[in-house]
Amino acid sequence: STAGKVIKCRAAICWGAHQPLKVEEIEVAPPKANEIRIKIISTAICHTDTLPMEGMLATYNYPSILGHEGAGIVESVGPGVTLIHPGDKVIPLCFPVCGVCRVCKHPDANTCDRVDGGKYIGLMEDGTSRFTCKGKLIHNFLTSSTFTEFTVVAENACAKIDSAAPLNRACLIGCGFTTGYGSATHTANVKPGTTCVVYGLGGVGLSAVIGCRVNGAARIIGVDINKEKFVKAKKLGATDCIDPNDCKKPIHEVIAEMTDGGADYSFECIGNVDTMLSAIKCSHYAFGVCVIIGVAASDAKVSIDPMLLLTGRTVKGAFIGGLKCKTAIPLLVLDYLKNKFSMEELVTHTMPFEKINDGFKLLHEGKSIRTVLDV
Ligand code: APR
Ligand code: ZN
Ligand code: ZN
Repeated sequence: STAGKVIKCRAAICWGAHQPLKVEEIEVAPPKANEIRIKIISTAICHTDTLPMEGMLATYNYPSILGHEGAGIVESVGPGVTLIHPGDKVIPLCFPVCGVCRVCKHPDANTCDRVDGGKYIGLMEDGTSRFTCKGKLIHNFLTSSTFTEFTVVAENACAKIDSAAPLNRACLIGCGFTTGYGSATHTANVKPGTTCVVYGLGGVGLSAVIGCRVNGAARIIGVDINKEKFVKAKKLGATDCIDPNDCKKPIHEVIAEMTDGGADYSFECIGNVDTMLSAIKCSHYAFGVCVIIGVAASDAKVSIDPMLLLTGRTVKGAFIGGLKCKTAIPLLVLDYLKNKFSMEELVTHTMPFEKINDGFKLLHEGKSIRTVLDV
């Protein structure tokens, strides 16, 4: 058994900005108290992984192991871990749930104090790292780090999932799928028979389309400047798809005409301030709800006419569907196993771990929805 020993394995290291990841041999220390060492089986590539690679995070600590959309099997656990055991299938959490902070105690909130996004400390709770490479300390990413054969996470950043779960699909529930799907089923809580508009039909937007359909929306209008995205969107439940470049009027006016005055719910899944404003405007006055999911540049600003709000629209936003991941992710995995939804349309590519930079290339070229790496 490898329990209690340092494990030597492969990981993709981000040594700094503006360079490809490098697959290197690393050392992974055993889990300390309340920590879990996981053998990663599958990991997908998410947009958020590109931010440190492109130097977009001012306070980011390099070198590090990126990846936060993964699934694996517990190799060993540290002292004090009682609810998760070696051999369990798990998903590392990029949104941990410490259970004791004010956010965790709030019934409807999910940005726990332990979330590393925005802080980018990249270390375990005791201020140390379990990763080294060539004698150097390697940071983690979003309390998870999945671009590695083995990772160590805090127990509060680990969700045990059903043993029947296929890990090459379950990994998507760790971030992208849940972000879109949860925004529809949880943040907006879409009601049956309603009209929804989804701006941006990438992995997040398509997952929002799935969520709208599962919740019984009567009409789902997809908006994208790339018509190639319409085929999948329609397959997943979009009833209409519009390319704003084909419209003579602003897209929110086109939607208002199509929907007797506006949508019940709109979702911005792009991260662009112009489409955010459009998504707010396309929601019906008096009751429309707009959910912002796309992540805009850190200095971006949306300027709105307050009358849009005074007349009764609601604007919301959430990371990871507003869900408390430790409990919500295992339930989503069960829903998946019961065929409540499929994620096949989201996985466009599968490749071996060594080809990770090819996966990023596909992402940058807009050719992939999700690439799943077999680690
Ligand atoms: N109008 C309409 N569609 C647009 C526009 C625009 N101005 N700009 C881009 N798009 C479309 C793209 O053509 C693409 O299909 O938005 C889609 C975005 O999809 P992806 O790039 O695949 O991104 P995705 O992974 O879905 O994430 C979307 O959500 O969580 C956040 O950080 C993430 O901000 C990102 C957003
Ligand atoms: Zn992500
Ligand atoms: Zn917390």
